[in-house]
Amino acid sequence: MEFKNKVAVITGGASGIGRSTAVALAKMGANIVIVDVNRERMAEAQREIEALGRRALTIQCDVAKYDDVTSMAKQAIAFAGGVDILMNNAGVMLRGFVDTLEPADWAWILGINLYGVIHCCRAFLPHMRERGNGYIVNTSSIGGLIGGQPNSIGYSTSKFAVTGFSEVLYKYLKPKGIGVSLLCPGLIRTNLPENFRYVGDDLQALGAIKEIAKEPGVMEPEEVAQMVIDGINKNKFLILTHPARFLTMMERRAKDVQGFLDTQLPTL
Ligand SMILES: NC(=O)c1ccc[n+]([C@@H]2O[C@H](COP(=O)([O-])OP(=O)(O)OC[C@H]3O[C@@H](n4cnc5c(N)ncnc54)[C@H](O)[C@@H]3O)[C@@H](O)[C@H]2O)c1
Repeated sequence: MEFKNKVAVITGGASGIGRSTAVALAKMGANIVIVDVNRERMAEAQREIEALGRRALTIQCDVAKYDDVTSMAKQAIAFAGGVDILMNNAGVMLRGFVDTLEPADWAWILGINLYGVIHCCRAFLPHMRERGNGYIVNTSSIGGLIGGQPNSIGYSTSKFAVTGFSEVLYKYLKPKGIGVSLLCPGLIRTNLPENFRYVGDDLQALGAIKEIAKEPGVMEPEEVAQMVIDGINKNKFLILTHPARFLTMMERRAKDVQGFLDTQLPTL
């Protein structure tokens, strides 16, 4: 895809993977709509993009709220002649066991991680259909392909749903000239631990999860941004950031899911 003068809408675009992708696309000539709930970080990202000589619009929007999303979509479509790329990337993390999570915790994680994706697709698809082209990138996780630790049930459920949604979306939109990619990152150094909800009293586990992103060797979001651009260019459905590690696990799981569940406890 030629990115010059294209318009990309990126939810969760103020930080981490979304922000790095916004900057990488701007470097290639795209104008960017940053959608997030964090005003300060949106302003920083806007300055970074404008310093590259590209246009940036920031819209404060909670993707879990459909009214916020429809109003955001109107502004984004009016911004610079139409939206070419939609990256549904806003996300949060939840840890807690199934018998401790409350309905409100489920509503929170599914509202942002799953309904955020559904809301934005619903709001932008009529526009893309009308134009007969467009590209959607949905951020799931490796935790949306392989079930993780027992206390990751909320996050994993939300991300598996994004995976299923995206596979079907891909099939539906391909003949209509609209591409779909599913980004499944492994561990990436971002601000995700800030928006972390832990339900239960095992605060030691929370501490361990917060520290893990600081370890050396963790992938930087800039590297993920390049993979996203490459994925869009190649019209590649599955973008895996750590293929060597996870393809083997996925193969084992596909061959014998029960055996895999009984012996394997991936740290996802
Ligand atoms: N960092 C990782 O290791 C990792 C691994 C797998 C998947 N992911 C996924 O990548 C995506 C991006 O996360 P990140 O790691 O860059 O984290 P991040 O926290 O750095 O960025 C996420 C952004 O989403 C925004 N956001 C949160 N709730 C929102 C809402 N309701 N509406 C709009 N914006 C909202 C946050 O303010 C933040 O700016 C998420 O979907 C996450 O689940 C991350």
